[in-house]
Amino acid sequence: MTDGSPDYRDSGLEFPSDFVFGSATASYQIEGAAHEDGRGPSIWDTFSHTPGKIVHGDTGDSACDHYHRLESDLDLMAGLGLESYRFSIAWPRIQAEGTGVPNEKGLAFYGRLVDGLLERGIRPIATLYHWDLPQALEDRGGWTNRDTAHRFADYAHHVGEALGDRVSMWTTLNEPWCSAYLGYGSGAHAPGRMNGADALTAVHYLNLAHGLGLVALRDVARNDPQYSATLNLHVIRGEEEPRSAEAKTEAIRRIDALANRAFTGPMLRGEYPADLIEDTAGVTDWGFVKPGDTALIQQPIDVLGVNYYSTVTVRMWDGSSPRVNADGHKDMGGSPWPGSEHVEFLPQEGPYTDMGWNIAPDGLEDLLVDLHEQFPGLPLMVTENGAAFPDEVVDGRVRDVERVDYLRRHFTAAHRAMQRGVDLRGYQVWSLLDNFEWGYGYTKRFGIVHVNYETQERTLKDSAHWYRELISSRRIPQ
Ligand code: NOJ
Repeated sequence: MTDGSPDYRDSGLEFPSDFVFGSATASYQIEGAAHEDGRGPSIWDTFSHTPGKIVHGDTGDSACDHYHRLESDLDLMAGLGLESYRFSIAWPRIQAEGTGVPNEKGLAFYGRLVDGLLERGIRPIATLYHWDLPQALEDRGGWTNRDTAHRFADYAHHVGEALGDRVSMWTTLNEPWCSAYLGYGSGAHAPGRMNGADALTAVHYLNLAHGLGLVALRDVARNDPQYSATLNLHVIRGEEEPRSAEAKTEAIRRIDALANRAFTGPMLRGEYPADLIEDTAGVTDWGFVKPGDTALIQQPIDVLGVNYYSTVTVRMWDGSSPRVNADGHKDMGGSPWPGSEHVEFLPQEGPYTDMGWNIAPDGLEDLLVDLHEQFPGLPLMVTENGAAFPDEVVDGRVRDVERVDYLRRHFTAAHRAMQRGVDLRGYQVWSLLDNFEWGYGYTKRFGIVHVNYETQERTLKDSAHWYRELISSRRIPQ
């Protein structure tokens, strides 16, 4: 580019030998076998079976049938040369009702998964909670009930006892922003509740679960794993030509407090930001935060997991024209932003993926550099990055040129961040397989491997071949 700013299309950039290239999935999105081997119902079973919640009424009942195709899916991973595999454990397979004696069959499934990975030289990165809360716990208040955080610690203890000699890296929670704000605020995700105070209560009890879960895992680990949490930190831009500089800063500050610092504050600094508590005073008095809670939440972690897809642009609404709310959630419920309903989310400049999300690799570079500056010495890992496009198999091949371009640009952005001093340990592409994309059901395809949901046939997309080359050469291919 002539103006000196990068277009992120470099090839040939080399990654260090200890950088871990992998791919990611999540239990409800791929496993299927929803009623087998003692698995209890989760909030996503209930939600997806509620008419009107998911596009086409899709559910995760069968998904990619991964539960029955474990061995061949493991071979697929080995064939791609993956160095790590990030998966999640379905809590209701381990404790059908979220409490009590663990289900041996559930533990055995994940034992086979972890062993199968290790046999193939692939590092297991296990997430304990990727949104499938046992429905029985939701019936008792879910993430608005403090006891759920204690139930989570108990669940973590059982999983740690069973797998704590073999898992390389543990992640407590995946994107608690979504669990709290989409699950309890906007209602776009399970359990579909729409109450700002509930969403903020859930933020705290999820944070508490993270802290208690880490204590429980450390207590039973018999190897020397890394501990982490995965956050979908928002990269927040302001208007290029704002009405006032103060309003621009204010809009960014508010969303940064709710989306980012509500989690990094307690987890990494041991306190909730004062401005967050002030901004949301009309919604809650935060009385659910008890003395000692934030110290408990601030357990040491070895790596912070970062999920990145795109950016948002915000501005303060001055009431002079109808409010713009293009944050992608208005069509699926209320506002996910308690206390900041007067912030507008402006349409993003394209190009876009099939989710309508803007493609902005500079956002990934900025996010990684910003985290490195805020938390010096904290290693980072991209635990998700990828894109949905409307792929089709034609003559046995999926020419997903746009996904290859997306990945090339984002790997380049990550590489640039590393050159700027960021300690980035690895990258897990979302996703290994096309899968159940939550409220969008099977209509959005994120996989580097195509799944035919009628036959369960897997077809490597061009992006999978491209990724295999990146992994084997450790350089971004042409
Ligand atoms: C984040 C979530 O962790 C994952 O479950 C989801 O499918 C992807 N983003 C894409 O939306």
